[in-house]
Amino acid sequence: MRLLSLLPVLLLVGLPITGLAQSVDSLPTGVTADMIAQGKTLFDGPGICTACHGTDAKGVKGLGPNLTDAEWLHDDGSYAAIRAAVEKGVPANLSKTGMVMPPRGGSQLTDEQVKAVAAYVWSLSHGAPTH
Ligand code: HEC
Repeated sequence: MRLLSLLPVLLLVGLPITGLAQSVDSLPTGVTADMIAQGKTLFDGPGICTACHGTDAKGVKGLGPNLTDAEWLHDDGSYAAIRAAVEKGVPANLSKTGMVMPPRGGSQLTDEQVKAVAAYVWSLSHGAPTH
């Protein structure tokens, strides 16, 4: 009887807590904190992403857009969309700004490395842990 009468209270208290938990982004399926850390090294190094997106990934005028904000030129900024953009690049006919990006940024990244660098880019706008 006592428990039953407490039930509405528990529900009321429980709901906002669940809501909070969902507003913090959890890692997308297939992404690990290790991949994000590895992706940063690739982004800054062999991926040559910084050449056009800047060392802070906030973009370089005339070369590449900001990757740290919630604004996405291509698709929805999901991990899958970011991965596809890195893999295929942005050819002139799909470019939103007139600037183009070669597949994999013109780098020699492997499929695994593309996944890692995409995980890092995803983390930049989703507040996920980088280590
Ligand atoms: C030669 C310059 C260049 C290099 C190198 C480059 N990018 Fe890009 N990137 C661009 C441009 C330009 C666009 C956007 C084109 C447009 O205006 O539609 C873009 C778009 C993107 C997008 C989609 C952004 C959005 O808003 O939808 C992602 C993600 C991305 N790049 C990640 C990377 C990563 C990761 C690397 C390194 C592997 C990389 N880029 C290397 C020029 C570059």
